[in-house]
Amino acid sequence: MSATAMAKRLEGKTILITGASSGIGRSCAFEFARTAPRDLRLILTARRIDTLKEVAEQIRAEVGEGVKVLPVQLDVSDPKQVKGFVSRCLPEEWRDVDVLVNNAGLVKGVACAPDIAEEDINIMFQTNVTGLINMTQEILPIFKARPDGGAGDIINIGSIAGREPYAGGSIYCATKAAVRSFTDSLRKELVATRIRIMEIDPGQVETEFSVVRFYGDKAKADAVYAGCDPLTPDDIAEVVVFVAGRRQNVVVADTLIYPSHQAGAGVLHRRPT
Ligand SMILES: NC(=O)c1ccc[n+]([C@@H]2O[C@H](COP(=O)([O-])OP(=O)(O)OC[C@H]3O[C@@H](n4cnc5c(N)ncnc54)[C@H](OP(=O)(O)O)[C@@H]3O)[C@@H](O)[C@H]2O)c1
Repeated sequence: MSATAMAKRLEGKTILITGASSGIGRSCAFEFARTAPRDLRLILTARRIDTLKEVAEQIRAEVGEGVKVLPVQLDVSDPKQVKGFVSRCLPEEWRDVDVLVNNAGLVKGVACAPDIAEEDINIMFQTNVTGLINMTQEILPIFKARPDGGAGDIINIGSIAGREPYAGGSIYCATKAAVRSFTDSLRKELVATRIRIMEIDPGQVETEFSVVRFYGDKAKADAVYAGCDPLTPDDIAEVVVFVAGRRQNVVVADTLIYPSHQAGAGVLHRRPT
């Protein structure tokens, strides 16, 4: 079977995904592998290394040996783990990263000020903002060393929450607004290069996201999606791979993705349940 134009553009690339143990990041790993199964390197990172190893095995079983998968433990909220990650944790032949998917992120709780736990504030900012910025700073020198001012893709996973703040999500919304500002600044700073800075903002997606938000309470998490048809993580992964698979001169800078019954952060049509 001949490869599609998108597969040809992705072939030979090394793709690093943060938060690849679950949800959108995990789906991105599968979608990249399915789209360019003949020649690809996938670096999968997250805190849960055992889960990453399972994902790696599942990808190998599905697409075969054309896709090489390297699971690596990495907590993006810890600057000491991120700084020097490439030279310390990646074997030589894995260091020439072409695409960084900054996906790792989380929300904790629905508390409103002045009752937001300091620990929750810190983990959200350290993961969603500082973690994403530190990862970007760790990978950008690789991109900038390439000809033509530099080349490579950074795909940041933002959120509708970064565009439309909502009650009970002030910290999470603030972190995603920060991602948006950082992303837009970076695109401007790198305008003289071939480095593409892209952001994808999902609406409601059913993943472990709400389970994490409610500290493991599955019943509360399920209630978030009651009467709704949320997006699946595969829906977002298809867009991630699409933007990475465009011709180099095409920058899909900014994308907002809803399920049909969503039209804003809190604007959801729910069927009676
Ligand atoms: N689900 C939604 O409705 C929705 C909507 C808009 C945007 N988003 C964004 O989409 C991204 C992915 O979320 P998801 O919905 O796929 O949720 P998920 O299923 O909970 O996945 C989150 C991933 O992030 C990883 N992660 C969390 N903290 C980390 C850390 N300190 N270091 C490294 N990895 C870390 C988790 O892995 P470990 O636990 O193994 O570290 C997991 O793989 C997030 O940035 C989220 O804000 C989600």
